[in-house]
Amino acid sequence: MTKIAVFVSGGGTNLQSLINGCKSGFIPGEINLVISSKKGVFAIERAKRENIPHFVIEYKDYSGEEEYSAALLKKVKEFNTDIICLAGFLVKLGKNIVSEYRNRILNIHPALLPDFGGKGMYGIRVHEAVLASGRKESGCSVHIVDEEYDHGPVILQRRLPVKDNDTPQSLARRVLKEEHKLYPEAVKKFISK
Ligand code: GAR
Repeated sequence: MTKIAVFVSGGGTNLQSLINGCKSGFIPGEINLVISSKKGVFAIERAKRENIPHFVIEYKDYSGEEEYSAALLKKVKEFNTDIICLAGFLVKLGKNIVSEYRNRILNIHPALLPDFGGKGMYGIRVHEAVLASGRKESGCSVHIVDEEYDHGPVILQRRLPVKDNDTPQSLARRVLKEEHKLYPEAVKKFISK
């Protein structure tokens, strides 16, 4: 059974969709580790509720990306992690963990990459940028993580029309609903490849 670690920083609705996907047997894997970059976020409660080992590892306690990622790396090794899923994780991973887990780290992004990705493009900001651009389509992407922000090969994407009366919030809600279907599908596809 593939051992999955999920890294989070927020509400963890994508974490929940992955938990549900594993529990139902849709994803041939098991989430045996959740790491949050923030204290007090609801994602941690979700892990607690499901009896999944969970840890808060805060960026501010480390001197930079590489040192922070070394702490993440230590933890995933301790839990024999096969693949890492970033689910609303807001810290950029260092080169050390990316190279050690090359082609084994996935990320979900709330837009159609390669557009609307990169530094500072997270959460509601992504949807604001999509609306400001006047695009008639948005969506979500699951991709393999490399050294650049939101950059590696896309595994799956889902497209959605942007409505004339959309606000960043209404677009975010519709995209998030699709994310919850897309991420389990992408992880299943990735594991079964
Ligand atoms: C999701 O929309 C995810 O795509 C986004 O953060 C949200 C996390 O929600 N990630 C990014 O913007 C990364 N660049 P969740 O905590 O409820 O899963």
